[in-house]
Amino acid sequence: MYQLKMKSLNIYQAKFKKFGSNHKSLLWKTKGAAHQRFREFWKEIDFNNKKVLDIGCGFGEMGNFLVKRYKNVTYKGVDIMPEFIESGKKLYPQLDLEIHDFHELTNTVSYSGIMYDIVLASGVLNSNIPNNMDYREKSIKKMFELTNNCLAFNMLGSHPQPKNDEDSNVWYADSLEIIEYCMSLSQRVILRANYHPKDFTIFMYV
Ligand SMILES: C[S@@+](CC[C@H](N)C(=O)[O-])C[C@H]1O[C@@H](n2cnc3c(N)ncnc32)[C@H](O)[C@@H]1O
Repeated sequence: MYQLKMKSLNIYQAKFKKFGSNHKSLLWKTKGAAHQRFREFWKEIDFNNKKVLDIGCGFGEMGNFLVKRYKNVTYKGVDIMPEFIESGKKLYPQLDLEIHDFHELTNTVSYSGIMYDIVLASGVLNSNIPNNMDYREKSIKKMFELTNNCLAFNMLGSHPQPKNDEDSNVWYADSLEIIEYCMSLSQRVILRANYHPKDFTIFMYV
């Protein structure tokens, strides 16, 4: 975990220094790339009256959309990058944003008093790190433990697995390997792989 933390933090910190509170600091090529992924969540989930935990929330843009689009949403965004959370608090003072490494959120009830209906993670599991599959599986398991209803996340990849460049900051997963792992945790899953050639979204229900 430590290796990932250092590598991720260094990359995000360098981008933030250059671009500030911009989608490029979050490693999205365009704002549209982030929004395209958000839309997949909205197509499936009715967020009205839901308690939502947004893991790796960046500046909290997702939260801003959710509280505007839906009624009575309780939103909390967490991100490992202090700079993102500080900027997010200035951009969206109405949002509840906190600095956390999600791997350390063993029990959201004890840390925030809330069990979340929906846990979201957009763009959080894309980094190229040692033991890519192992990291992704451990992270999915952890995120799934934090919801009482649905975990929704996206990831770079497809099936067959795209070619990976070992020097790249990102790593493309085999979507079928990922869904197989998800189905070992829940049989109530949805795989959406129709909106982008190299990105997919999974919904896992408790
Ligand atoms: C590609 S950005 C996406 C940000 C936001 N979800 C969006 O879609 O605009 C991925 C985010 O995940 C955060 N992140 C990565 N690993 C994390 C961890 N272990 N705990 C919390 N946040 C993490 C990064 O700091 C970064 O803000």
